[in-house]
Amino acid sequence: MTGAIVIVPAAGSGTRFGGDLPKQFRELGGKPIVQHVIERFLLDERVARVIVPVAEQLLAVVNRGSSERVEFVAGGATRQQSVRRGLDAVPDGYEIVAVHDAVRPFFAVETFHKLLDLAAESGAAFPGLPVTDTIHVVEGDRITATPDRRQLFAAQTPQCFRLEVLRDVLARAEGNQDDATDEAGLAAKYGHVVRLLAGDPMNFKITQPEDLIVAERVFERLGS
Ligand code: CTP
Ligand code: MG
Repeated sequence: MTGAIVIVPAAGSGTRFGGDLPKQFRELGGKPIVQHVIERFLLDERVARVIVPVAEQLLAVVNRGSSERVEFVAGGATRQQSVRRGLDAVPDGYEIVAVHDAVRPFFAVETFHKLLDLAAESGAAFPGLPVTDTIHVVEGDRITATPDRRQLFAAQTPQCFRLEVLRDVLARAEGNQDDATDEAGLAAKYGHVVRLLAGDPMNFKITQPEDLIVAERVFERLGS
């Protein structure tokens, strides 16, 4: 067991969140959100290394004074391209890689460990939350379909993969000019087994300003 590699894509611009500073650099309890995430992984002895794709112009700033288990690399124009850049920086000799959004500071370490084990066993695993709202497919302003809610799960991260699985999936997606918002769905699309593990409602993604307000309340109550 060599330990896992964690890729934390942090090169997004946060258009839905808005503001001048991309949301992953906004502070939560006095520290940038992405820093909470990185530190949480560094405390975990199952994590060998954390690779963080960030916007190219930030590389010079963030690289100063970081731990030797953290590496910042230039991200890409889409999340998938950022993950791909992170993957290209994985050194030889590792077997398992996790991809975790920079804006999900409250992931459960216990769930992460189970996902690492599931990925080692089956190739790929993700945390999914049963959706509580009814989801409609809409075209224009009309409902065209209503999938059975019992079959719908909201994809969270960390999503875990055997390294060769994620490499295969991203190479094939790139070849097909396929750009997805999560790697678990891509892996399934390209024929890999992707196991579901129950996600956690606390592991929400900070997407809009309201989410940061909730995150601040959670942080005050629980710490990170
Ligand atoms: N991400 C990235 N590179 C991109 C786009 C997104 O590394 N080119 C990262 C984000 O920084 C974030 C994660 O992917 O950690 C999840 O993406 P999302 O919540 O969609 O963030 P943004 O793309 O920044 O936000 P938006 O979609 O509202 O613009
Ligand atoms: Mg996005």
